[in-house]
Amino acid sequence: MDLKVENGCIKEDKGLGWGKSLPVQSVQEIVRNGYQSVPERYIQEIKDRPSSISSESLQASLQIPIIDFSLLAKGDEHETRKLDLACKEWGFFQIRNHGVQVKILQKMKAAMAAFFELPLMEKKKYAMGANDLEGYGQAYVVSEEQKLDWCDLVALKTHPLEQRNLNFWPLNLPGFKEAVEEYSIEVQKVAEEINANLSILMGMERDGLKRYQGELKQLMRMNYYPPCSSPDLVVGVSPHSDGGSLTVLLQDDDIIGLQIKHKGGWIPVKPIPNALVVNIGDAIEIMSNGVYKSIEHRAITNEKKARISAATFAHVDDELEIGPLDSMVDDPHRPPMYKKIKYIDYIRQVLARKMDGKAHTDLVKIQT
Ligand code: OGA
Ligand code: NI
Repeated sequence: MDLKVENGCIKEDKGLGWGKSLPVQSVQEIVRNGYQSVPERYIQEIKDRPSSISSESLQASLQIPIIDFSLLAKGDEHETRKLDLACKEWGFFQIRNHGVQVKILQKMKAAMAAFFELPLMEKKKYAMGANDLEGYGQAYVVSEEQKLDWCDLVALKTHPLEQRNLNFWPLNLPGFKEAVEEYSIEVQKVAEEINANLSILMGMERDGLKRYQGELKQLMRMNYYPPCSSPDLVVGVSPHSDGGSLTVLLQDDDIIGLQIKHKGGWIPVKPIPNALVVNIGDAIEIMSNGVYKSIEHRAITNEKKARISAATFAHVDDELEIGPLDSMVDDPHRPPMYKKIKYIDYIRQVLARKMDGKAHTDLVKIQT
């Protein structure tokens, strides 16, 4: 167990036990201090640099499914079929009429903006510990050589309540805790309803996934992408798939940043004001035996404006084993495509490597 001494008080670092990330400089601070050119460690290899958004990709963006959550919650068959197709073909969709009040979304956005506006010294009080990924810092930094993302973040465990570690919460920032708490409750409802619908689609009762996954644990990753003078040289977050069950993303209404891999190309997810973006994570891909796709995605930066997002990950209970669900396996027509693995072993393996597209699910794929 590590002990951190900060501002004269000792902070106990309990550790997520999920992995660690090497400390690196705040990107927001690089920008605040002014820079002549983008520092070398952030300049991506040519093959990894984002090209500017083409009109074709913007056109394809319009095909990303938009689901009316209120219909889904009523059990509307047409909407349920849309969800099925969205998870099979895109792995990503946007939801409208999700029932989360606009006021709650706005408060959440304002709380994140206020946190990142704090002076560095203040934010550092909530810095990630040496053995942890919770707190303020950067994730997935595993070597001194790797290229870095143009992003700062703060990650907080938000649900269940006993997993919260308030040492990482800026409690003296007015309204922050309340905004995160309110948003957390609402996002949990959204994730549970989507899981209930997926359970039915996967041939189970509404509570099928819940029984299998245990109570969903919620981790919020609040991302701050500072503006970058050369957005074509850097990435905000490198290509990756999300390890968990589902992710709900609250993104900026005006700035395009998120891009998803579709048919070999990068397609932007154009923000719809007050909608939420949902994507399937690796755990559901594995449980659905590959029917639902955990799609590779990344974020690009903006030349003029900072972009803030909140990715809320629903995680399976650490100790549970994940593998293809019985209802999704039909040997010999559809044999199991993934090995069974304890969730925590999967997540540790994901977090121990630099984000690298879909390399993680490949590790548990049964080679045929
Ligand atoms: C993430 C993520 C995308 C975004 O945090 O996992 O993919 O647009 N974020 O911030
Ligand atoms: Ni992601």
